[in-house]
Amino acid sequence: MTKPNNRGHWSSQLGFILAASGSAVGLGNIWKFPYITHKNGGGAFVLVYLLCVLCVGFPIMLAEIFMGKKSGRDPMGAYRYLARGSRWWPLAGAMGVLSGFVILSYYSVVSGWVLHYIWASAWGTFRGMDSAQIADYFNQFAANGTEQILYHALMMAVFFSIVVQGVKQGIERINRLFMPLLLVILVALTSYSMWEYSGMRAVTFLFNPDNFSQLSSHGVLEALGHSFFTLSLGMGAMITYGSYMRDDEGVMSGGFWIVLADVVISLLACFLIYSILFSFNEDVGAGPGLLFMTLPRLIDQMTGFAFFSSLFFVLVLFAAITSAISLLEVVVAFFHDEFKMRRSTACALSSVAIFLLGIPSALSLGPLSEVRLLGKNPFDFLDYLASNWMLPIGGFLSAIFVGWVVDEIAVRSEVARRWGALYPGWRWTLRFVTPVLVLLVILRTTGVLESLGTLISSVLST
Ligand code: PHE
Repeated sequence: MTKPNNRGHWSSQLGFILAASGSAVGLGNIWKFPYITHKNGGGAFVLVYLLCVLCVGFPIMLAEIFMGKKSGRDPMGAYRYLARGSRWWPLAGAMGVLSGFVILSYYSVVSGWVLHYIWASAWGTFRGMDSAQIADYFNQFAANGTEQILYHALMMAVFFSIVVQGVKQGIERINRLFMPLLLVILVALTSYSMWEYSGMRAVTFLFNPDNFSQLSSHGVLEALGHSFFTLSLGMGAMITYGSYMRDDEGVMSGGFWIVLADVVISLLACFLIYSILFSFNEDVGAGPGLLFMTLPRLIDQMTGFAFFSSLFFVLVLFAAITSAISLLEVVVAFFHDEFKMRRSTACALSSVAIFLLGIPSALSLGPLSEVRLLGKNPFDFLDYLASNWMLPIGGFLSAIFVGWVVDEIAVRSEVARRWGALYPGWRWTLRFVTPVLVLLVILRTTGVLESLGTLISSVLST
């Protein structure tokens, strides 16, 4: 089997790096990371997170880019091509496609909230609101089923209209425009708020690691789990994007820049958000509501101009769109490669199906708020399923596959082509360190880890 040559390509290595960083940088960086870091007490958590990125995120990132680049296929095709005859490995790829499907269905709903907040803050809606009023505002908005479905449909239409134009004309073009803009807005807002507000407190909170005692084992595993989501790993996004690389482009260097961009942007988002948060003396809520209930009110109250918070949500929307299109592209590439569907048909079919799957999520805080799956509303259930099960399992399988199953010569010839000195260290980590750490996350999710812990402590105490 040779590589198919009837597929799209990035125009250059930079095009690939921008698109893949666009996939990685998303709501995970600007919404999730700041609030879980705050919850876990900063300092030590950030350090552990950086270690997770180094020992788990980066190795799997290279493994997935390699799989895509070497095979030139969608995730399922990539496993099939590289496993040469195994009937089971391609299922790992199919699970990745399914994860893309699931994640995008609720990611689109949250993107719709962001879009709404651009308008709402531009009109000064949050001016003078106290925390109860803005919480009410959000709850009412999220409970309005019709509005939620319309926003969800609108966002899916936006994603469709980008992806349908193809790899270079659609995905790459939008990333070339949005990613530099995102960086400019982020740096501008961050410098302003660090300068005007508690910039130094934000830095100390993030980089002072002497609070190790505050960090629970739960926090450590949360850091590990988050490194999958934020780097778009475990579901085939990097396999799919890697499959559009040209032969002479570097896997190692590409992966390095993507991971670096993702980490830097997460930290910048924390600087921005905490400088504002910390200069507020009242005890502000900083849980998942940080982005939609706490920040808009603080920004408005402190700066006094609506433009600032509106611009902030524009930034979040750019981040969300560039990630969402990578999720859609995984599903589109699958239908295109596996079923020989035309790109436009695959794109329309996937968008409609994902829209339908997203409806229960869109109604989760309203008409369907009573519905419970494993004790969670549909939205939380899908997020739990994807982030806690599908991505770690997908990441684990890709680490084992590239580390132990694929022919070493094939791996070396791609990955060591540039920056080859890093190859032995990468391979060793991918084979021996990454799978063990990921397995810990999975065991914790299944509850096995806790029972084991109780068993060990009871044995020790007898
Ligand atoms: N990495 C994205 C974020 O941080 C989410 C994502 C996950 C995108 C998986 C694609 C694939 O928001």
